[in-house]
Amino acid sequence: MPDLRIILTKEKIDHLISEMAQKISRDYADRHLVMVGVLKGAFIFLGDLARQLTIPAEIDFIQFSSYGNKDTSSGDIRLKKDVSCDIKGKDLLVVEDIIDTGLTMQKLVAHLATFLPNSVRVCTFIDKKERRKVEFTADYVCHHVNSGFLVGYGLDYAEKYRNLPALYHLNL
Ligand code: IMP
Ligand code: MG
Repeated sequence: MPDLRIILTKEKIDHLISEMAQKISRDYADRHLVMVGVLKGAFIFLGDLARQLTIPAEIDFIQFSSYGNKDTSSGDIRLKKDVSCDIKGKDLLVVEDIIDTGLTMQKLVAHLATFLPNSVRVCTFIDKKERRKVEFTADYVCHHVNSGFLVGYGLDYAEKYRNLPALYHLNL
């Protein structure tokens, strides 16, 4: 049996998402919002967040190389799937599952900037500070944790546990 300890219940997550959606709906009321989900981990967060917005939004996805089957970033981050919408002049909101070392976000934001959007901000479900390797601050954070490996609500370990409805700490 995997050693899972609950961090956020489904009810707590629902509450965090609706608060975040209200904030984003206010901040982007007069903007041309494009949500850019980071595959694969952000697919559930983006789906829930997008459905709670009260403003129009375009949806796109991007994917960078991941951990493989390990629990730490290799630091060798490559683009696997690019955005497909025309994002020039638009207000991009990157939607990410978790920021850890910050290396992925640093690379991803620099990549999106080459398309000359009007603005780029980052919304992450979880901000995990302990292993930061580069200075990176997300604009919107649902929940902060210091350390540990988390799974569920889109987050995986070796492609498992993404479909769990709550967020857990996995004892590796
Ligand atoms: P970073 O480049 O180290 O910030 O890595 C970010 C990516 O690593 C996230 O988008 C996740 O896919 C993955 N990741 C980092 N920490 C965890 C975790 O605790 N659980 C699951 N995936 C994680
Ligand atoms: Mg990710």
